[in-house]
Order: sequence, then structure tokens, then C-alpha cells
Amino acid sequence: MTTRTSRIKRIVLLALAGATLPLLAHAAGEAIHIDRQKWSFAGPFGRFDPNQLQRGFQVYKDACAQCHGISRLDFRNLAQPGGPGFKEDSVKGLAATYEVQDGPNDEGKMFKRPARLSDKIPPPYANEQEARSIHNGAYPPDLSLITKARSIEYQGSLFAHPFHLLKDMAIGYQEAGADYVHALLTGYADAPKDFKMSDGMQYNKAFPGHQISMPPPLTEGAIKFQDGTPNTVDQMARDVVAFLHWAGDPKQDERKRMGLLVVLYLLITAVLLYFAKKRIWAKAH
Ligand code: HEC
Repeated sequence: MTTRTSRIKRIVLLALAGATLPLLAHAAGEAIHIDRQKWSFAGPFGRFDPNQLQRGFQVYKDACAQCHGISRLDFRNLAQPGGPGFKEDSVKGLAATYEVQDGPNDEGKMFKRPARLSDKIPPPYANEQEARSIHNGAYPPDLSLITKARSIEYQGSLFAHPFHLLKDMAIGYQEAGADYVHALLTGYADAPKDFKMSDGMQYNKAFPGHQISMPPPLTEGAIKFQDGTPNTVDQMARDVVAFLHWAGDPKQDERKRMGLLVVLYLLITAVLLYFAKKRIWAKAH
């Protein structure tokens, strides 16, 4: 009996110790506050806005593509439903401005040719080593899955955490990565006076450690949108993040639509089963 109570005591103590660790990390000043944004694609009814995705692709191409690849996207994805929905001919024209390696030809040689719709969008570097040697050792990651690869650290009180988690599950919150990348792109600022900056680094409020080797990629008014949308840094960041979120999950709209149909189907089936059950058991009385 005593051994069992001591074992329980030990488990309770261990659980408490585990629970206080995140609090200590917070106290050390590690946590970075990141605001949640409103996204058209959030929640079970959320959908991508093709105009926003078109603007986002423009921002990616003009302001990010010289350093970051988006290697999981094929050119044809840019014309497919649920995405930016560019006209196929204009995507063909765009693809033809890139060169890709193909082969071997009849003589066994590799050769270069203009890209086609079925090709992946070529990255700016041959490999990671080349990228690092250009950027002083830093590696600009491929952006295909970046909004899935990043997240936000929970900041509230420990005891509210389970409720917070449940709430996020209920509203289907999956945009933490998008919120982070938006905060990163809009997070450049002057470093506080007592902050020690290393050479060639930029201060950024959202980046862990606050020193990033990426120069601020967006400047006010740098990109002109054809649809007349204001080209503020915030707007450009928002649009490119929407595009990157889509790039990480090009079938999201279709998947959400199918999910809703399945739920509707199950609801109707549940009602039918309820009445069927009532009828069958009514006879047995
Ligand atoms: C001049 C080159 C350059 C341009 C242009 C550029 N980046 Fe970067 N980016 C970098 C480098 C270098 C890093 C790695 C930074 C580090 O680890 O310190 C990086 C890192 C990142 C990261 C990862 C941050 C993290 O949490 O690890 C994201 C996201 C990102 N860039 C997004 C963008 C977007 C979006 C654009 C266009 C709007 C862009 N970048 C334009 C060079 C660039």
C-alpha cells in the first residue's frame, strides 16, 4: 500500500515538474508574441481567393524567387482550379522563360530546353552548398512547405492550455505557419539599444533569437498590383503568405468541400438510421 502511494506521489511530482518547464522557458524571455491574422482560407468553410493567390505569386516571383525555390510546385498547378487560376496559355508562356535540364537524347547527352507545364518550377540554386556559399553560410529554405514547417509557440497560462487546444480544434485552426511567416515579413525593425547584433544580420521581431540573415525582402510600394490593390508591406506579405499556404496544400479547397459533403451525408444517414431504429423496435413491443 505504501509503495503504491509513493509511486503515485512520484508520478504526480513528475507531472508537476513537466508542467512547470514551459513556464520557466517563458520566464527566460524566450517566447515571442505573434498575432493571428484573418485568412480567407481559414476554418472548415474557408476558401482561397484566386485574385489574392495571383498577387501572391507576383510577390513571390519578384521579391523571393531569386533566393528561395518553390520546388514542389509544377507550372501546371498555377492554372489548376482551387489555385491562382492563371490562364493556361500565360502559364505556358511563363514556363518557356525558364530553362530546365532534360535528356538523355539519342546520343546519350543531357540538354537544356525551355520548361513546360509539366515541369517543376526550377530553383535558383543547383544545390544547398551553392545557396550557402552565396548567402554567407545561411540557407534560404525552399518555400513549398514553409507554412507547414513553422508554427507559433503557445503563450497563455499553463492551466488554460487544454481549453485553448480544444478551442483551436473546434475552429479548425491550422494557420499558425501562415501567421508566423506574415509576422516575419512584417517584423523588421531597428534593434533595441542594448541588443548586440552580429555583422550582416537584421533585427526581426518574429524570428527566434531576433537575428536573421535575410535582408527585408519587401519594401513599401515596390510591386505594382494590376488589380489596384494597395501595395503596402502588410498587403504584399499577406498575399505572398496566402500563395505559400496554397503551395503547401494545393488541393485544400477540394478537400474541405469533400469533408463538408461527407459530414452532411453522415448527418442524413444518422437521421435515417434513427427513424429506421424506431420503426423496427416499435414492432417488437
Ligand atoms: C536576398 C535573398 C533573400 C530574399 C530576396 C528573400 N529571402 Fe527569405 N531567407 C533568406 C535567407 C538567407 C534566409 C535564412 C535566414 C537565416 O536562417 O538567418 C531566409 C529565410 C526565410 C524564411 C525562414 C525563416 C525561418 O523561420 O527559418 C522564410 C519564411 C523566408 N525567408 C521567406 C521569404 C519570403 C516570403 C520572401 C519574399 C517576400 C523572401 N524570403 C525573400 C534570403 C532571402
